[in-house]
Amino acid sequence: MTILWTILFVAADEPTYRRDVAPILAKHCTICHDDQSLDDPETSGGLSLESYERVIGRKDRPLLHPKKPADSAILQRLIAKDVKKRMPKDEPSLSEKEIDVIRRWIGAGAPLGEATSDAAYHRRETGRKGALRELVVKFDVTVPAKAFGQSSPGVLSLAAPVQPLALMTAVTASPDGSLLATGGHRRIVIWNLKKAAVDYQFTDPIGMTSALGFSPDATTLYVAGGESGLQGELRAYDLKAGRLVYEIRLSNDVLTGLAVHPDGKRIALSGMDRKIRLFDVAERREVWSNRGHSDFAWSVAFSKDGRKLVSTGKDKSVKVWNTETGTVEQTLTGHRDEVLSAVFSPDGTSVLSGGKEPRVAVTKLGPAGRATMVGGHGVALHQFAWNVGFSKLASAGADRTVRIWRSNGTTERTLQGAGDVIHACALSRDGKAAFGAAGDGVVYVWSVDAGRIVARLYVGDPGSGTIGPWIACAANGSVSCSHELAENVHWIIGTQEAPFDRTPESLRRTESVVDALGGSATLKPLLTVPEAPKKIPPKKTPAVPRKFAALDAGAI
Ligand code: HEC
Repeated sequence: MTILWTILFVAADEPTYRRDVAPILAKHCTICHDDQSLDDPETSGGLSLESYERVIGRKDRPLLHPKKPADSAILQRLIAKDVKKRMPKDEPSLSEKEIDVIRRWIGAGAPLGEATSDAAYHRRETGRKGALRELVVKFDVTVPAKAFGQSSPGVLSLAAPVQPLALMTAVTASPDGSLLATGGHRRIVIWNLKKAAVDYQFTDPIGMTSALGFSPDATTLYVAGGESGLQGELRAYDLKAGRLVYEIRLSNDVLTGLAVHPDGKRIALSGMDRKIRLFDVAERREVWSNRGHSDFAWSVAFSKDGRKLVSTGKDKSVKVWNTETGTVEQTLTGHRDEVLSAVFSPDGTSVLSGGKEPRVAVTKLGPAGRATMVGGHGVALHQFAWNVGFSKLASAGADRTVRIWRSNGTTERTLQGAGDVIHACALSRDGKAAFGAAGDGVVYVWSVDAGRIVARLYVGDPGSGTIGPWIACAANGSVSCSHELAENVHWIIGTQEAPFDRTPESLRRTESVVDALGGSATLKPLLTVPEAPKKIPPKKTPAVPRKFAALDAGAI
């Protein structure tokens, strides 16, 4: 974390793509200029502004000339006098401030900039200089002047000592919709989505968590992971008792992927030892194991009926297996780089696969099967994940987005706003909530229907305790947090400490956080404010309003 702060302070005034430019393009431009619309000139003019590579990389007619803003087409289009030429098309022009950011960014040589953590961003936004362990969360809520007796309106934020957060690498939702498991380095957290609370935290796994899977009845969690070059282990936790049931060393290298068979009796695993395995969870033994890939195997996924299994590898190939026999039925080629994840279509007749390439492949299975490359994240795609019923498909990308897919391989929604690379994603049972495990240690929750972040989940280091301090923050300002944190949170309105201590009861509304975790597209704004704080001497002006008059629920 220290490294992140340092970078932030050094690079404070020079705009960077990641920190300053990408948000402007995402807000005003990529609705038309996205990868998906590249082949649709009427919408996009054949231009995508979805990634750094797209913005700076066009060779034939460069969009910009570093250090020469005035000569750069992108800036010319923003300031064009001719309304027909000016961008965004058919919209009011950007604000002076935004145009100035683009101008200064090109002037500075169009730097990409460092990835900043979500927490760091919010810290800067609120101007709060607290202890390093303090995390600042900003809500989509503007508190009107005097609502809490304070003089001016301001954005509501909260500061809580939960740092450091660990990098998150895996996430999965239970088939019954009640639990969410997240994993990172030597850390697994079980969130109870119906209580907006952490049920358990396990710190006994060795190494990084690669993949997680629930049994169909959500009573057992399986974890694949290990330590590179040393051992790969499978762990099973009993979620009723909150304890480890078994750990089995299956390999001398990391287990990279895990999928639970729909019957719940078997799980499939992939490993850096290049093997794909089918494991019987009751008998605790391998049913079969085969070396299918010529380099690290990265992932596994079952078809909806469980008869087939698909695996991907560093060897750029995708393999379709017969689950019963453990034999490869088809090898899919066509990728030019490592394939990190693949899934079957609901009917099992085609495979969607993606990885280090900017695009993904759709392959119709069968003798004539050929891969068709379609739009992807524009950068690496880390994982595909279906919801339980195979009705919604999500993917996690290095572009800090989770995407929702249509069956033809096009993007239905791009879920933005995360502070770092998304390593893994999951969907709720009904497909309404999407979860993204990010490099900044935050688990982001989007409403798929509303297309925006509705909650963020944070868990700190447990230290010598069993569960670290945790807090679940819904975008409307409702929070649910662990006991020790409740005593230690500070609220901020604008850049001022709020004139109330700790959590006013109206903000601690678990039902609202539970709604957010379910992907609610219509989070109710906070309605009530507490009694006028006693510290403020009574004034002659009218009483403090009982309701927030104008809660601004705009996007962050
Ligand atoms: C409503 C859709 C829409 C939005 C929003 C939009 N554009 Fe465009 N843009 C177009 C279309 C269509 C064209 C092609 C027609 C033209 O050149 O005017 C275009 C052309 C361009 C071009 C020239 C194309 C080229 O290949 O050189 C640039 C540069 C550009 N837009 C930048 C932007 C930027 C920057 C934003 C955001 C501030 C933006 N556009 C927002 C639709 C849009």
